[in-house]
Amino acid sequence: MSDNQGVSRRRRNLVIGATCAGGVAAAGMATPFAAFMLPSQRAKAMGASVEIDISNLAPGEKKIIEWRGKPVWILHRTKEMLAAIKADDNKVADPNSERKPGDVNLAYAKNEFRSIKPEYLVVVGSCTHLGCSPQDKFTPGRESFDPDWKGGFYCPCHGALFDLAGRVYKNKPAPDNLKVPPHMYLSDSRILIGDDKKGA
Ligand code: FES
Repeated sequence: MSDNQGVSRRRRNLVIGATCAGGVAAAGMATPFAAFMLPSQRAKAMGASVEIDISNLAPGEKKIIEWRGKPVWILHRTKEMLAAIKADDNKVADPNSERKPGDVNLAYAKNEFRSIKPEYLVVVGSCTHLGCSPQDKFTPGRESFDPDWKGGFYCPCHGALFDLAGRVYKNKPAPDNLKVPPHMYLSDSRILIGDDKKGA
């Protein structure tokens, strides 16, 4: 065997070895899903309800959970936050969420706080313009986008603003308020996201 043949055979073996290692890694990642979840189970998991414990969520704090691959925010609003929402009723585009029927605006979201209990906001954390994730801007005061900011959410993608009830401000690119997912209270400290059949 010539030196050239020896080098090219070693290179080929290295390439094959690297390919196999990659294949094993990929198979290792795929196995739990492929082996342990049937398609019907995967579909069920994607649509499953999620139970949240909010007992340790202090006023002013926000929790994020995943439901159907989307972020859902639970914000424990303070009295000051609720007052800020009321103060901006005439600045938001759809103050009582009356624009759209159906799952965008559930009956219990059709009020100025857009919630079952005023102190808790539960919304899908995706901008209704093109789906970016708005940022928390809870501190009132001067902001580059509003000199009289009362607190809420700012979407940096194209500048949509939402108040602390997820209501979009007038003349912003987002067409609708943040979506309220179906949900219900199982107790004072537990919320079920994705199901409201037992009543809210
Ligand atoms: S995606 Fe939020 S403003 Fe465009």
